Amino acid sequence: MTTNTHAAPIPADQRRDLLGQRPATVWLTGLSGAGKSTLAERLETRLLASGRACYRLDGDEIRTGLNKDLGFSPADRHENIRRIAEVARLLNEAGVIAITAFISPYRADRAMAREIIGPDRFLEVYLSTSLAVCEGRDVKGLYRRARSGQLPEFTGVSAPYEPPESPRLALDTGAESIETSVERLARSVEAAVMLAGAAR
Ligand code: ADX
Repeated sequence: MTTNTHAAPIPADQRRDLLGQRPATVWLTGLSGAGKSTLAERLETRLLASGRACYRLDGDEIRTGLNKDLGFSPADRHENIRRIAEVARLLNEAGVIAITAFISPYRADRAMAREIIGPDRFLEVYLSTSLAVCEGRDVKGLYRRARSGQLPEFTGVSAPYEPPESPRLALDTGAESIETSVERLARSVEAAVMLAGAAR
């Protein structure tokens, strides 16, 4: 008779079979104004409509809650990404598809996220929309403030953005319609999360 009072860990297969999907993290990276939040929202809506369990993590919400103690220095951005990756990992452990929308400008930080989440589950998607297009949109007026020196360490203006070298997918929302980008993204994600032999 065993004296171990701890239950054995639940095998990942059990949750995978329950939800009928392979969990993954869709990691959107790109400049402010590139379309990350819009694409993340559209992808989430679409995946939910097709019966996928998914959850979106977005800068505005995370930076006013979990990460409200963090700013935009390299060290704070590193910690921002580390915590987000840990949350995404937990969502994946629960069987859920995570969709993250953060600038995540440093290659080393995205490599860390890949390690935390697991390379097989980490789907890097580069929003390659150019700085000129993002700045032209300037939805939040932040580029204007950054150019006039009121906003220090602003990505693309006074702080670096290091593009992914081999993303799973690159989407330029300045060159194609949002519908096209969503379609390409959804197809790519669906191919990664579907169980072999499952009809949908
Ligand atoms: S990250 O670099 O740490 O990944 P994150 O995606 O969480 O950034 O937050 C980016 C958002 O914060 C931008 O879309 C913008 O609204 C706001 N922001 C405020 N200050 C800065 C800054 N110095 N650089 C970039 N974004 C900033």
